[in-house]
Amino acid sequence: MGAQNLATAVNKRRTFAIISHPDAGKTTMTEQLLLFGGVIRSAGTVKGKKSGQFAKSDWMAIEKQRGISVTSSVLQFDYQGKRINILDTPGHEDFSEDTYRTLMAVDSAVMVIDAAKGIEPQTKKLFQVCRMRGIPIFTFMNKMDRDSREPLDLIAELEETLKIEAYPMNWPIGMGKTLQGLYDIHHQRVELYHPKADEAAYLPLDATTGDLQQPHPIQQDSLYQQALENVQLLLEAGNDFDPQKVATGDQTPVFFGSALTNFGVKTFLDTYLQYAPAPSPHKTQDDQQVEPTDEEFSGFIFKIQANMNPNHRDRIAFVRICSGEFDRGMDVTLQRTQRKLRLSNSTEFMADTRETVEKAVAGDIVGLYDTGNFQIGDTIYAGKKALQFEKLPQFTPELFVKVTAKNVMKQKSFHKGMDQLVQEGAIQLYRTVLTNDYVLGAVGQLQFEVFQFRMKNEYNSDVVMEPMGSKIARWIKPEQLDEKMSSSRNLLVRDRSGAPLFLFENTFAERWFQQKYPDVELTAKLSTE
Ligand code: G4P
Repeated sequence: MGAQNLATAVNKRRTFAIISHPDAGKTTMTEQLLLFGGVIRSAGTVKGKKSGQFAKSDWMAIEKQRGISVTSSVLQFDYQGKRINILDTPGHEDFSEDTYRTLMAVDSAVMVIDAAKGIEPQTKKLFQVCRMRGIPIFTFMNKMDRDSREPLDLIAELEETLKIEAYPMNWPIGMGKTLQGLYDIHHQRVELYHPKADEAAYLPLDATTGDLQQPHPIQQDSLYQQALENVQLLLEAGNDFDPQKVATGDQTPVFFGSALTNFGVKTFLDTYLQYAPAPSPHKTQDDQQVEPTDEEFSGFIFKIQANMNPNHRDRIAFVRICSGEFDRGMDVTLQRTQRKLRLSNSTEFMADTRETVEKAVAGDIVGLYDTGNFQIGDTIYAGKKALQFEKLPQFTPELFVKVTAKNVMKQKSFHKGMDQLVQEGAIQLYRTVLTNDYVLGAVGQLQFEVFQFRMKNEYNSDVVMEPMGSKIARWIKPEQLDEKMSSSRNLLVRDRSGAPLFLFENTFAERWFQQKYPDVELTAKLSTE
């Protein structure tokens, strides 16, 4: 691919994540987007509505049928000349670490808010990560087919709680049972909720009066008049739409709608694609910028997932391509080890998508079949110049358990499972220095439960977990370590890279330690070396 073709292909990419508090409607929204992308034909495919069951087999079947990747991690489809990559972010807060890393691999985010609830805690947390990265954030106020909070309140709350300028692209006319449509400020039209059979769904507005160009019964509705007044107020007293501020994440365009009834979703998607950024440059650790249109391939691994297909023992490393073009079979260098690798094994889940897996460009996510080479945060590159992208955020675990195999005869599958699952990065593995016991650390309890379940399910290994409660993990420089420092109030362990750390009972134990050894430097950061 020549430089011009590469630039054209890169500019078509839109890579984003949907962030939301559980139940705000992320799955429903994703499903509607897939419908527009022609990936699925009817709603309810992704999630069985009545049963509330996530139908995983549907995903697999869709993958086969359509030859696209619809695993829970990456969804890819073409829409209006754009190649869209949606990255899934688990909603449960115990998985937030995984989500945070995923947010490092996207160029923008879509924030779905339940309009009856407003900003919920998980939305706020995820929003802050996006804000830190300075990526554009687009807001969808969902569930307008139900009674929601007052739209003006929602906008005010968004601005106050999240400290971001909001610009309503459209405004609801009524809500719940009285929802009539959307007053679309951006497109200067009214979008009707339930247009009559012979009626256009979009009614153009007159730029000077702000009212409809052609008379329509909706004008007699007091809710329409109220929406008009609100919009007038917003236009006079609110923020101006500023694409520059949107690009830097300082202003969020707000759209109202209902994912479930597919209202306002197309308007959202079309407008989003107009303003969402193409792949952006990535910074290296030594402060260099890698441009997506640089011809040499480079990327970083932000997620490792084992056993995506339980019939095959496989592990997929997800790579965000930061520059150049990925060609199946290409040789790259793994920065951490300086080893050369041939990327010949495309992913299990993209096995049918010849075009996408054989070739991908900056902005795309590829899944690499991993036989144990990769770790989260790894950089791979094809050029001669060594590259290491900035570190991904890692959170110091707070909860710990001691883990043993129930059946001592089954050590092999136990070790294999431990080794593979910890590589995914959601949980951390430590060995106690004195007894060489396995200790797992996580941010949330649910991670342990999933781990235990997967050990049984995927590795046929029953594990016994002995809760150790919450601890404070603090790393110590190896040269400062003296094994006598270990006491009943702390536990000396080593992380997977062999770096020593103490697990303190509580802050008193840590303070006591610091008083006793004032010269010892303790750090909360995870070592990734
Ligand atoms: P999540 O992925 O963010 O957790 O949310 P999800 O899409 O699963 O939606 C959570 C619930 O909210 C679902 O209902 C879903 O049908 C409903 N929902 C999503 N968008 C809308 C909307 O625009 N309007 C209305 N009225 N409801 C919406 P549920 O009862 O939990 O599941 P189900 O039995 O309906 O599938």
